[in-house]
Amino acid sequence: MSIETGDWIIEACNLSYMYPDGTQALRGVSLKIPKGGKIALLGSNGAGKSTLFLHLNGILRPREGVVRFAGSDLKYDRQTLLELRKNVGIVFQDPDSQLFSASVYQEISFGPLNLGLPEEIVRERVETAMAATGTGEFRQRPTHMLSYGQKKRVCIAGILAMNPSVMVCDEPTAWLDPKNARQIISLFNQIASDGTTVIISTHDVNLAYSWADYVFIMAEGNIMGEGDPESVFRDEILMYKTNLEKPWLVEIHEILLKKGCFPADSSMPRNRDELYQLLRNNNMCRREEMLNDFNNIRDEGRERNNVTLGIKRL
Ligand SMILES: Nc1ncnc2c1ncn2[C@@H]1O[C@H](COP(=O)(O)OP(=O)(O)O)[C@@H](O)[C@H]1O
Ligand SMILES: [Mg+2]
Repeated sequence: MSIETGDWIIEACNLSYMYPDGTQALRGVSLKIPKGGKIALLGSNGAGKSTLFLHLNGILRPREGVVRFAGSDLKYDRQTLLELRKNVGIVFQDPDSQLFSASVYQEISFGPLNLGLPEEIVRERVETAMAATGTGEFRQRPTHMLSYGQKKRVCIAGILAMNPSVMVCDEPTAWLDPKNARQIISLFNQIASDGTTVIISTHDVNLAYSWADYVFIMAEGNIMGEGDPESVFRDEILMYKTNLEKPWLVEIHEILLKKGCFPADSSMPRNRDELYQLLRNNNMCRREEMLNDFNNIRDEGRERNNVTLGIKRL
């Protein structure tokens, strides 16, 4: 995926938005979302991420500026908004503000039924969405009886069943335990690999670094920086200005580079496995057991959802 392609699915030009109480939440935001990308919008609490997302499918209307979908300026009449919402699905941060149907099945089928699709197609879409999200096993359960992670997956299934070309997900991993967070992220990878543009917001630098192929950094209602993760997270000034920390992988890579452990042109590892591979390639893991040990620690950590265990044993 290249940001230079010019094949933008969504564009925001100079968006400003003020809430009725006078809070200026967006201050001239401009961004271009490449079609088919895995995009992270990263920023601390209050940066304006959720407000921006609500502009992307017309729930909020900017005071100034324009939103474009597939090259056309967004109009706010009923028909245009209906059409837009078929294409751009938003999963809110809090599942309780999204779920409103009595059962899981009803919730997931609501969107496609509302599109006026034939019953058979609706059934097919709901089954596919349930299979992708692992929600089929509780299809008849009332939504209010589900755990937080299950609710989150039902919300995603409800949007998936609409077959959107863009899936926007506000803080998808917030409040999830590591196992559920991993499941959601691998689900997004699958959705993106099917050609859907996936945009997430997060304040988790490690998630944005490892997952996204393009990152926007937001602070105080504005986009402060953007680019591929390797270049964005190496930008010390940007990180400092936006109160963000470097991802741990970037930090370790920089330390080991300074110590001369890797060649200066070695690429930055995007995940644990790439880091181990880099260590191995540069004879940092002299003994095979050391690598096995790393892997055991990782697997144990995954099993027990206990990251610190691995760090201690290291
Ligand atoms: N409904 C609202 N009414 C008034 N101010 C709001 C409302 N929602 C958000 N804000 C304010 O708008 C700013 C941006 O908030 P938000 O978009 O929720 O940021 P983020 O999602 O990055 O945490 C913050 O100052 C927040 O307090
Ligand atoms: Mg938010």
